[in-house]
Amino acid sequence: MSTYLVTGGAGFIGSHLAEELLRRGHNVRVADSLITGKRSNLDHIPAVDFREGDLANEAFAREVVEGCDYVLHQAAIPSVPRSVKDPIASNRANVDATLNVLVAARDAGVKRLVFAGSSSAYGNTPTLPKSEDMPSNPLSPYALQKVIGEQYLQMFTRLYGLETVSIRYFNVFGPRQDPTSPYSGVISVFATALLENRPAKIYGDGGQTRDFTYVANVVDGVLRACEAPGASGEVINVATGGRISLNELYAEMKKIVGATVDPDYQDGRQGDVRDSQAAIDKAKSILGYQPIVSFEDGLERTIEWYRTTPAAATAANA
Ligand code: UD1
Repeated sequence: MSTYLVTGGAGFIGSHLAEELLRRGHNVRVADSLITGKRSNLDHIPAVDFREGDLANEAFAREVVEGCDYVLHQAAIPSVPRSVKDPIASNRANVDATLNVLVAARDAGVKRLVFAGSSSAYGNTPTLPKSEDMPSNPLSPYALQKVIGEQYLQMFTRLYGLETVSIRYFNVFGPRQDPTSPYSGVISVFATALLENRPAKIYGDGGQTRDFTYVANVVDGVLRACEAPGASGEVINVATGGRISLNELYAEMKKIVGATVDPDYQDGRQGDVRDSQAAIDKAKSILGYQPIVSFEDGLERTIEWYRTTPAAATAANA
């Protein structure tokens, strides 16, 4: 049994990590500012040691990291458009906090730190699928901040011998993703709109593509990254390995839900990437990773969750 710190553990992905770690019999501490996370995401797992605070505060970072074997650094303001609108707040959450957590992990003798990287690092590089050896090309403050995080991790591995791994997520979706903010992930927004037969917005022509990844796959990849020999110092994509356009996604979700409304097309978003698809060979070879839930099954499970969870529906109407 080990002790894991999940920063951002009251958020969507973090709460799934916390749940799986407890199921495996580990001690789990969560640090969350509750800026985008919600305490209620942890209601079903009361064994979590919850600490509320801001990791951009160095003393708080040191306090929560102390005594942990592993750190899963998920805390972030995870939004491209929000970072375009307010790059300073986003930098504080995504860069300043990451540096504090790294310093604290180094000083506390943490065995390994795993960081939530992002597919946005690739930008509009023409080649698909996107593999980790391609140069990064950030198109938004968010993407740049995630690349800086990865580079800080690699530097800490080289300079101080702290074991670190960056996992690049590709458009993660699933239960508990918050659909209520203007910056919410597109599947959560489409699901809650279509379940009420309301049109959802598509930014641009809807021809942009994404490698949507069900959250259980990311949990599996991240937990493998804590243990895998040869992973330290690496940046590794964890995704499904396919891609689907927004227009196709909308049509598929409309069919599953039985909605009849057409999308409401709006101007494209600043900083939006056109196409995103992961090469997952490196995750396969270093982590022994294989997607465990397909895009289609994940989409069904997710829609079912929004259909049957009153809290999600209420929040969507708020
Ligand atoms: C990006 C990153 C992802 C990162 C996430 C953080 C890429 C390729 N992906 O996701 O790795 O974790 O930020 O949140 O950069 N859209 C609509 N209607 C909506 C909402 C979104 O059409 O109501 C469109 C967006 O313009 C975009 C796509 O759907 O083209 C996906 O958007 P979103 O779910 O916000 O994620 P990304 O910005 O792609």
